[in-house]
Amino acid sequence: MSNKIIVNADAVKGTINKNIYGHFAEHLGRCIYEGIWVGEDSPIPNTNGIRNDVLEALKNINIPVLRWPGGCFADEYHWKDGVGPREGRKRMVNTHWGGVVENNHFGTHEFMMLCEMLGAEPYINGNVGSGTVQEMSEWVEYLTFDGESPMANWRKENGREEPWKLKYFGVGNENWGCGGNMRPEYYSDLYRQFQTYVRNYGDNKIFKIAGGANIDDYNWTEVLMKNSAPFMDGLSLHYYTIPGDFWLGKGSATDFTDDEWNITMQRALHMEELVTKHGTIMDKYDPEKRIGMIVDEWGTWFDVEPGTNPGFLYQQNTIRDALVAGVTLNIFNNHSDRVQMANIAQTVNVLQAMVLTEGKEMILTPTYHVFDMYKVHQDASLLSVETSIEENDKNKLPDVHVSASKSNNGEVNITLCNVKMDANSTVSIDLRGYEQKLANVKGTILTSKEKNDRNTFENPEAVKPTEFNGVEVNGSTLTVTLPPMSVVLLTV
Ligand code: AHR
Repeated sequence: MSNKIIVNADAVKGTINKNIYGHFAEHLGRCIYEGIWVGEDSPIPNTNGIRNDVLEALKNINIPVLRWPGGCFADEYHWKDGVGPREGRKRMVNTHWGGVVENNHFGTHEFMMLCEMLGAEPYINGNVGSGTVQEMSEWVEYLTFDGESPMANWRKENGREEPWKLKYFGVGNENWGCGGNMRPEYYSDLYRQFQTYVRNYGDNKIFKIAGGANIDDYNWTEVLMKNSAPFMDGLSLHYYTIPGDFWLGKGSATDFTDDEWNITMQRALHMEELVTKHGTIMDKYDPEKRIGMIVDEWGTWFDVEPGTNPGFLYQQNTIRDALVAGVTLNIFNNHSDRVQMANIAQTVNVLQAMVLTEGKEMILTPTYHVFDMYKVHQDASLLSVETSIEENDKNKLPDVHVSASKSNNGEVNITLCNVKMDANSTVSIDLRGYEQKLANVKGTILTSKEKNDRNTFENPEAVKPTEFNGVEVNGSTLTVTLPPMSVVLLTV
């Protein structure tokens, strides 16, 4: 066996920002409506209109931050349509996502309530593409102004006396595409203008996030950083793992070949290069790493489930998705000196979702279980890890993928992925600088027999974490055998 990992338990590299474990919920398909919001009169058990089963499931994975209302929807959203008595709210067409009627029943108050219920920081994305500076400015005033002002008074009339605390605000979304088809020079000027009026009221301090690049558009990052770095706290990046072609066919979520599995893993691992290269550009203008890289959209994107609305982006979720989540979160952990937040797309019923719903039923996806296992890394200390890992010649896939952290109570948590479909990976882990005897190593594994195994409404627990027994302890060395297609958490 030649895979070796050294985890330096006494060499802390920094803190893994818990916001790396963030989520994204857009007015898209059945994410908000049905997936989260069912309304107070629904027969589905709910609290103030939010369905209880989804709420409980999401609370369990400690969602630190939730991005809303889009995505592309954000640059078509006019927040004033979504406040005030619900029956009087304007109905609009969600032109981007399926052309369905949006009744605006889930608006600012409902979103802020959801975040309070989840214990998550709200991250609101404002409208640059089809909105105005005034509209954006007034939204922030409505949310956060304490005292007498037109917007604060309106908020009070609508039932909320106290201002909310709002930390994260995005100034536009994908402004190179659905958010206005702009060039970076133009957007960077617009960004400077719009953000000027995103005010800090009282002691509310807003972390301003500029719309960032698509995939490997390094020029976008270069221009934004050059022109606008002093005006931003974060710069976003979007990258989806798509085994096929975005326009010609992305590939099925459940019915895929071995080659498609391998391509999916290669493309998920591409995140490493993107984060490194965009990060290098950011370093040039921000060597202190003040500005956070905010990967506020990532995850798998497949063809929609047959028979579903193509504009709803509803896809199933298999053990393949779990591996994509596992390696991506390891990458973010390892780059947490620059990556301050990430938001997987999207929370419920859309793309790489945590949970899927059908009427009153709800199931947890394999991706959910990865977030549950990895939550130990939230706000933990990133440990220095040295690796000597074999790479498969044909597929260019590493034998093992890893990150490690130390929590406040001294526990060391190591997350390992074997992305190969057909072979075990064996690795020896030398835990250096860990003073206690390695008596207690607890392991949890998420794996499955078939590459497209998934949870369904008929069989909701087909893929779920179990105890992991593939670890042998010898002095300060752990010898670990990871089965194919597995995500493992070791807690020492
Ligand atoms: O997450 C789905 C869509 O993908 C978002 O609305 C958009 O920002 C991106 O292109």
